[in-house]
Amino acid sequence: MSSMNIGLLGLGTVGGGVAAVLAKNGADINRRAECDIRVKAALVLDETKKRAENVPVTTNPADILADKDVQIVAELMGGVEPARSYVLEALRSKKSVVTANKDLLALHAEEIFRVAAENGQDIYFEGAVAGGIPIIAAMRASFTANDITSVTGIINGTTNYILTAMTEQGRDFAAVLHEAQELGYAESDPAADVEGLDAARKLAILATLAFHTPVLFPDVYVEGITGITSADIEYARELGRVIKLLAIARKTEEGVEVRVHPALLPERHPLATVRDVFNAVYVEGDALGESMFYGRGAGALPTASAVLSDVIQAARNRNAGVQGRQGLGHDRRLPIKPVRDYRSSFYIRLKVKDEPRVFASLALFFAEADISFASIIQKPRSGGNAEIALVTHPCRESQFEQALSSVRAYSKLEKIYNTIRVLND
Ligand code: NAP
Ligand code: HSE
Repeated sequence: MSSMNIGLLGLGTVGGGVAAVLAKNGADINRRAECDIRVKAALVLDETKKRAENVPVTTNPADILADKDVQIVAELMGGVEPARSYVLEALRSKKSVVTANKDLLALHAEEIFRVAAENGQDIYFEGAVAGGIPIIAAMRASFTANDITSVTGIINGTTNYILTAMTEQGRDFAAVLHEAQELGYAESDPAADVEGLDAARKLAILATLAFHTPVLFPDVYVEGITGITSADIEYARELGRVIKLLAIARKTEEGVEVRVHPALLPERHPLATVRDVFNAVYVEGDALGESMFYGRGAGALPTASAVLSDVIQAARNRNAGVQGRQGLGHDRRLPIKPVRDYRSSFYIRLKVKDEPRVFASLALFFAEADISFASIIQKPRSGGNAEIALVTHPCRESQFEQALSSVRAYSKLEKIYNTIRVLND
């Protein structure tokens, strides 16, 4: 059997997972790839670090990028630079590239795919979105006969792990985040997870593939989970809902809607039961109808499963002298819809003076913006105050912002604790 050498750019959580799965399942992988796959070297930052993997390490990228015996480069280091330059150099050096780097693809996919095509090389990226779930292969191959109209998902494992522990065990945000980092789920800067940026990058990639139009990370409206408190989780429970960080992409008449934010979901919604580090992606297409994918969204082995399936495909293609899927599949350029026109229901929790006409005034502020209420909870609080949690019927962001500015200016308002979007059935 012929051999195929891989160079790993990065030997951290995912790189280590790739080495571990190769060590465990190597014989099967080689049979399926129809060649012996060997890791020739791994690029790292710190050569002196103690590592469990039996892989030669280097701090010199040329040891991999300029090595003619390396046919496949797996970029598992993260970040935009120098990852972008290394990926482009690998493609120009006629190597196939596999990457799990959503930061890179959510900004530079067009350039990378163009250089791959110019050099006749494969670029695969199943590990970049939703860990071990094969959603990229489905988007790039299985759904191509459809007009995909929406993609809704939980696509960040760290935040789902944190929200699950806060909801089910009443645990503290910071302690659970630390645990998620220890488990290898979080990004090197976990702000990318908890601020929603990681999910936004993944959504840009999914929306690009789903709607066959370029969608970049800056196009995505983003809010993270750092403002979610145990009180909001408790109110959500009273309203028969759970709070999840959702990624939503929709193709509408006015353009593509792409947003990541926490949302109150009905307890019976299929995404409400997605717990811990699990991810789920729910796709709607005109021919397909509805389809849902579920699996582990982060961690060494699930991501290695995705990365190695790409490596096997790239190895098969090289041996057959062919290229795999070409391009990003863009066949249109749709506008991005302005955020003010996005529609949602909203939850708002506030403290006001517990006096006559206060609730009537609040109702008036919302009525002036043409918004009606779906649910209301009011609780007495000390100091002559009342805490109110309201859920509105669906309205545009611009309508909600109009009502909110009236509430903010109201003399009987003590505090707005939070506003969170609400997803209905
Ligand atoms: P990680 O644990 O921080 O590992 C990064 C690796 O890259 C380390 O080996 C590090 O070297 C090396 N590295 C970083 N910057 C480098 C540089 N400038 N030059 C040379 N080497 C460098 O990260 P990870 O969690 O494995 O994530 C890797 C990629 O996979 C990221 O794009 C991430 O978004 C993506 N991803 C991660 C997961 C997950 O669950 N963790 C899931 C899906 C996708 P040292 O070892 O010397 O520090
Ligand atoms: N930090 C990411 C997450 C890793 O928690 O989902 C997987 O992309």
